[in-house]
Amino acid sequence: MINLFADLFGWDLGIDLGTVNSKVYVKGKGIVVREPSVVAINKQNNEILAVGKDAKRMVGRTPSSIVAVKPMRDGVISDFDITQKLLRYFIKKVHKFSLFARPRVIICVPSGITGVERRAVIEAAEQSGVRAAYILEEAMAAAIGVGLPVSEPIGNMIIDIGGGTTEIAVISLGGIVVSKSIRIGGNEMDEAIINMVKRDHNMLIGETTAEAIKIEIGSAFVQEEEEVAEVRGRDLVGGLPKSIMLSSKNIREALDETISKITNAVNETLDMTPPELIADIYNYGITLVGGGSLIKGMAGRLRALTNCEVHTIDNPMEAVALGAGKCIENFNIFKNLITQERET
Ligand SMILES: Nc1ncnc2c1ncn2[C@@H]1O[C@H](COP(=O)(O)OP(=O)(O)OP(=O)(O)O)[C@@H](O)[C@H]1O
Ligand SMILES: [Mg+2]
Repeated sequence: MINLFADLFGWDLGIDLGTVNSKVYVKGKGIVVREPSVVAINKQNNEILAVGKDAKRMVGRTPSSIVAVKPMRDGVISDFDITQKLLRYFIKKVHKFSLFARPRVIICVPSGITGVERRAVIEAAEQSGVRAAYILEEAMAAAIGVGLPVSEPIGNMIIDIGGGTTEIAVISLGGIVVSKSIRIGGNEMDEAIINMVKRDHNMLIGETTAEAIKIEIGSAFVQEEEEVAEVRGRDLVGGLPKSIMLSSKNIREALDETISKITNAVNETLDMTPPELIADIYNYGITLVGGGSLIKGMAGRLRALTNCEVHTIDNPMEAVALGAGKCIENFNIFKNLITQERET
């Protein structure tokens, strides 16, 4: 009976529309979609050419008639139509065999977004044919995803360093007590590398290259063994292809300003936290999630800064979608935590 209902109306979904990657949790199945939040469009007729992984391969490599758009900038919708297309693509992808799927969805959003931005998310979901759209704050979703006791009278601190935003929140008794959301994350780290290479080596590199170097040798804290990597790009003076060697120390220096903005925000959040909850955070530690937290030495740097234990988890990029998934699976238990809802 339940399956028949699911087949007719579609499976309920938990969607983390990330700035860099979107992840979709399907009820009863787990996370089934992990794809870059990119859509490639033919400018002449507005036709979608590719979405997700295929579209990401086109970024920086498109002829003038094609644009590869990342519709979520800094974690919020900057291009409404394309966000809607992206949502529709994910819903279709999950419901290959159901023409009339009208699932219920929980969509995760940064806690710092405005009412207008929330409305845009709900509208994009409604127009992609869902039956009901609910909103869950990313920090809460991540805390539920990693299994923190969010409903207990205990201060739980979660830090989610994503591609476009960093969310820092202290959660207790099912609510976010203090939080800070800054529009800084992995993307800004990539830009910092591009700028450093331009300034110090007169060379232009693309976003994809910058991200790859960051992942390969980037770090937030002094490493025991420093590494080097070869980087290719275009010489700004002669215009020809060239390659240079960069060390992990070079990259760390380039990333320092961005990472300091993140650590400052953590400090400011701790400053705003009531003393009882600070004592809990000291006892139980801080949990670090999001793809940006995978930068080497990030947990160590936060440990040194806060004097608290910093816990990391496997698959930190999936914590938010997993939390939305747990809410979908146990809707009645978590429904009070879902901040806004709308039935269509
Ligand atoms: N091993 C790694 N080292 C450093 N950074 C990494 C690593 N793996 C992924 N990243 C970065 O993680 C970011 C993507 O993380 P995530 O999927 O959590 O972001 P998002 O959810 O799309 O963004 P947001 O939450 O801001 O909307 C990218 O900037 C990516 O470069
Ligand atoms: Mg995220």
